[in-house]
Amino acid sequence: MIFLAVPNLTGNEKKYLDNCIETTFVSSVGEYVTRFESMVAKATGSDYAVATSAGTTGLHAALTAVGVKHGELVIIPTFTFIASANAVAHCGAEPWCMDISADDWCLDPKIVRQEMNRYCEKKGSILIHKPSGKRVAAIMPVYTLGNIPDMSLFRSIADEYELPLVVDAACAIGAEYNQQPFGKLADVSVLSFNGNKTITCGGGGAVVGNNKELLNLVRHLTTTARVWPDYDFDMVGFNYRMTNVQAAVGCAQMECLDDFVKTKRWVRIYYKEALNGKGDFSFFPHTEGSSCWFSGIVLPVSATLKDAKYICDELKKRDIEARPFWKPVHLQKPYRSSPRGKVFVAESLWERIITLPCSTNITEEEMQKVKSVLCLVLS
Ligand SMILES: Cc1ncc(COP(=O)(O)O)c(C=O)c1O
Repeated sequence: MIFLAVPNLTGNEKKYLDNCIETTFVSSVGEYVTRFESMVAKATGSDYAVATSAGTTGLHAALTAVGVKHGELVIIPTFTFIASANAVAHCGAEPWCMDISADDWCLDPKIVRQEMNRYCEKKGSILIHKPSGKRVAAIMPVYTLGNIPDMSLFRSIADEYELPLVVDAACAIGAEYNQQPFGKLADVSVLSFNGNKTITCGGGGAVVGNNKELLNLVRHLTTTARVWPDYDFDMVGFNYRMTNVQAAVGCAQMECLDDFVKTKRWVRIYYKEALNGKGDFSFFPHTEGSSCWFSGIVLPVSATLKDAKYICDELKKRDIEARPFWKPVHLQKPYRSSPRGKVFVAESLWERIITLPCSTNITEEEMQKVKSVLCLVLS
């Protein structure tokens, strides 16, 4: 089977894990956690990084730290993995789902500005969503596929409305914007290191940023808000700290980051060149400096989810794992009644996507097979 995106564990993972067992440092204190945090901070161009148990828990802590509270709204793209919306809901808040741009599959800042101009009003220093009467507490773009949207426009919208800018950068390790890593573009950015990500810790996440006070608060919240050295706690905190075992795997993985991202970019180019002109489909979008987390094709507008699933099933019969992609948040049961704008792009896109095998250890022969079989199935 040629799998979609599997971990590539051929570096120092075993050695570092052995060290955890030998030293008995398997829990949330240990040299690998600290080392992993500095590797992630450096790779993302951030002054600070806080390692967390997962991307979702990192998002929850980040949103809490910027002040998202019960009964409020957070602007997110509807086209994202459900964890983005769940993190908002874990704060007791609701997602305000907006559309994406077809150019990068990320939240469209122009639409965000239009919707906010139309539906928001300032009451003192508080921004109110007029239809629901709820406070808008943050804007949260997602770096879909490792693509980075127009962040200078997001920055100016966030400044204009005095809102924190939190980024779900779960799939974006290694991505660049204007030839720089992305850590300085938002108030906080949150990464995921689950099994299908470019770099994995088995499971894990990290919150990065440059605001010392904010990142200290994230660290405090993720470590039960304990005030050392005694059993004193000054807030309702979370037990969201990454363990040394997760970080041991993460450190070994981060040593391979440049090679892994290079491979991801090569996979995208390979499929594009090999499949160009071979059928009625287009390719995943990518922005300059994208980390190209996933690659694949987009069927024509007349196609449906049934068509995409049929193609995936046919590929599977021939030992190739391919899958449709995210179903928009506003179509998911827990969020059907959440506020949303017009979501034409997301609605017309999501059913037509086929992600193709793109593990960081995929070979050219395997991609050649994917290409031949796909051409056969589509013919
Ligand atoms: C866009 C996005 N947000 C959030 C997450 C959640 O991360 P995790 O699975 O580490 O909790 C993921 C990945 O799973 C994701 O792809």
